[in-house]
Amino acid sequence: MTDRLPKPREDLGAFRAYRTQQQPAEVRLQANEWAEPNPVSRYLTANELEAILLNRYPDSGAGKLRTILADQWRISPDQLIFGNGSNEILLQTFLVFGGAGRTVLFFTPTYTMYGRLGQITGMTVADERIGLPYDVDAKRVRAAIAKHRPHMICLCRPNNPSGNAMPRDAVLAAAEAAPESLVLVDEAYSEFAGESLLPLIAEHPNIVIAKTFSKVRAAAGLRIGVLIAHPRVIEIFDAVRLPYNVSTLAQAVAAKVAATVNVPERVAFITREREKVARGLSRLPGIEAFPSVTNFILFRHRERKAADLHAAILQHGVLIRDVSMWPGADNCLRATIGTPAENDRFLVAIERALSPVRA
Ligand SMILES: Cc1ncc(COP(=O)(O)O)c(C=O)c1O
Repeated sequence: MTDRLPKPREDLGAFRAYRTQQQPAEVRLQANEWAEPNPVSRYLTANELEAILLNRYPDSGAGKLRTILADQWRISPDQLIFGNGSNEILLQTFLVFGGAGRTVLFFTPTYTMYGRLGQITGMTVADERIGLPYDVDAKRVRAAIAKHRPHMICLCRPNNPSGNAMPRDAVLAAAEAAPESLVLVDEAYSEFAGESLLPLIAEHPNIVIAKTFSKVRAAAGLRIGVLIAHPRVIEIFDAVRLPYNVSTLAQAVAAKVAATVNVPERVAFITREREKVARGLSRLPGIEAFPSVTNFILFRHRERKAADLHAAILQHGVLIRDVSMWPGADNCLRATIGTPAENDRFLVAIERALSPVRA
């Protein structure tokens, strides 16, 4: 029977599904989501729902959402492309600038989707190991570009999973050393760090920026991602993107989310809670935690294996993310900042998980 299955591309034969850890747990701090419930009923009245006609295709220009975001980000409305989550934005980027015979460069540990999309689109994947601390600087960027001659460079700023932001100079070095290559800056977490590189696009049209509604905008379930680029680069994306890739409902809710989210208040909240969690972790013997400007913290135990510690924390009701298999993140775990009560639960859980070893 199996010899009659269709044959996929040979280079995808050993490919495995992207898996997040989804074990049941009372406290879920594994996916860098916003922890407080954000029901859709906050955003659309019964009358507004009535006006959404599902028999019609969506506005392929994303209507109001486009003008609200252009206004907020002080860019021109023709600098935006929307996607079904920023993962789809990343995919679009790889479809346009990647592909067979081309090379993608990134610095690990970083978001694993860049490597996966490189493979999926048949690229040569150049994975430069930085390790931890994640110190990507202009010199390393230039050296890696000279070595690999990439067509695409992916820079996650601030970086998942390390939680820090590489210097702006490192991004500029990439844009200048490879002017005909695409420099994709993934700003999924940039609001938490308080800095966006959007202003660089005008002078450096090879820089494109991906943003998401899944983090500070508390709408991971909505699936809205945005690409911001020079209008001439957007034209290239527009020519190849699938029509109607963002639903009418998602566009309507996203416009309301964008107009009402109080980013400074959320960032202040995360900063306070992150500092509390970082302080708590710093008191635990054997734990090495990395400084973060995001809504998560990366850490490891000097002796205890990541998988064991992850399981022990889960036994106390808290699910975090084991990222120890991510290249360059040896023995590391990543905890999302949740509600104050969830963060307290996490600190108690890890303390208890470690106590048999300490005794
Ligand atoms: C760095 C980074 N980029 C992109 C994404 C994908 O986000 P989205 O939910 O918009 O697809 C994530 C999700 O965790 C992320 O960490």
